[in-house]
Amino acid sequence: MLRTSFFKHVAQTSPEPMAIEISHADGNYLFDTKGNKYLDLIAGISVSNVGHRNPEVLTAIKNQADQHLHTLVYGEHIQQPQVLLAEALANSLPAPLTQICFVNSGSEAIEGAMKLVKRVTGRFEILGCNNAYHGSSQGALSLNGDEYYKRNFRPLLPGIRQIRFGNFDDLKRINVKTAGVFVETVQGEAGVRTAESSYFKALRQKCTETGTMLVLDEIQTGFGRTGTFWGFTQHGIVPDIIVMAKGMGGGMPIGAFAASEQHLLQFTFDPVLGHISTFGGHPVSCAASLATMRFIENNHLAEQVKEKETLFRNHLTHDSILEIRSAGLLMAVELGSFDKVLQTIRHCLEMGVITDWFLHCNTALRIAPPLTIRPEEIRSACEVITAALNK
Ligand SMILES: Cc1ncc(COP(=O)(O)O)c(C=O)c1O
Repeated sequence: MLRTSFFKHVAQTSPEPMAIEISHADGNYLFDTKGNKYLDLIAGISVSNVGHRNPEVLTAIKNQADQHLHTLVYGEHIQQPQVLLAEALANSLPAPLTQICFVNSGSEAIEGAMKLVKRVTGRFEILGCNNAYHGSSQGALSLNGDEYYKRNFRPLLPGIRQIRFGNFDDLKRINVKTAGVFVETVQGEAGVRTAESSYFKALRQKCTETGTMLVLDEIQTGFGRTGTFWGFTQHGIVPDIIVMAKGMGGGMPIGAFAASEQHLLQFTFDPVLGHISTFGGHPVSCAASLATMRFIENNHLAEQVKEKETLFRNHLTHDSILEIRSAGLLMAVELGSFDKVLQTIRHCLEMGVITDWFLHCNTALRIAPPLTIRPEEIRSACEVITAALNK
């Protein structure tokens, strides 16, 4: 019944949705209405870093709901959860990234960052990377790397060009006309592609030399996923803007970007209300996000990520696995063909493990579980994946 209405009335994102009828979720598991239990290896695409329905996040949500929901667009009223979250985020970031602009999603945060680089520099040319994924809205889409997802929506934003992620030669294309360069700290949807710290340092230097703003998209890598709270701190650089969402809300919708006070002040004047959103920084989402930050910190979740990554890598050995690319608990198991990936996803699902593929890399299996996944769950997940590959 529900299933029929799902297909009839909910706009379908793809021809073959997973279509599990979710009954409830708890910790590292999802449960369907038929009583099946699934170990979640994708965490709602890097969202549920602290596990599903994390008790501390739930308490924060309930307490905030008892106080107030939306009152007025953020930045007008002083609302405790927003202020405390902004302060905590600022404390987690290096100077001068002390101010936070709250929105509702990753794409929306990217849009805000695109506007900010134009407003601050007075330039309009923006560089993105090949294979990048920054979201589905028109600005974010303009930055994305994969032509298949763009071609039917043209014309997109003018002034946008692409450089190759990790390629030193392409840094020459950053010049005094470039307003900003948008880079994912780890390219998630490209199938987990990393770049050397020396690349990030050279990128930073070129941006500084040309007065270009460096924007790091930490929407998928933030909140502990790669083994540090923010991924970029592993490269010894400080960007001009950090963009965040996904794991930020502990399962609630929220996004934001952080920049210096001097830069974010540009949205205060000429025009006033330079970047606003009715629900941006919703107090319940902010309360959930603050609880998420505290949980990650108090339980040392980021510090355990490397060990868990190694456990996955050690237990995932099979002739069909061509390569494993990983950055902490953001992992791509390369199988070389979409058919093989789809088959493996299907077999894993039958055996109670949820995996997925990547938007711009359908030949690799996605492994990005809640950071709360336990060693014994990693071992049994790897057994299931191996059994699925054997079928
Ligand atoms: C790196 C990155 N940036 C941006 C986005 C877009 O975020 P949202 O789906 O919240 O708009 C995503 C979503 O997958 C992402 O992985």
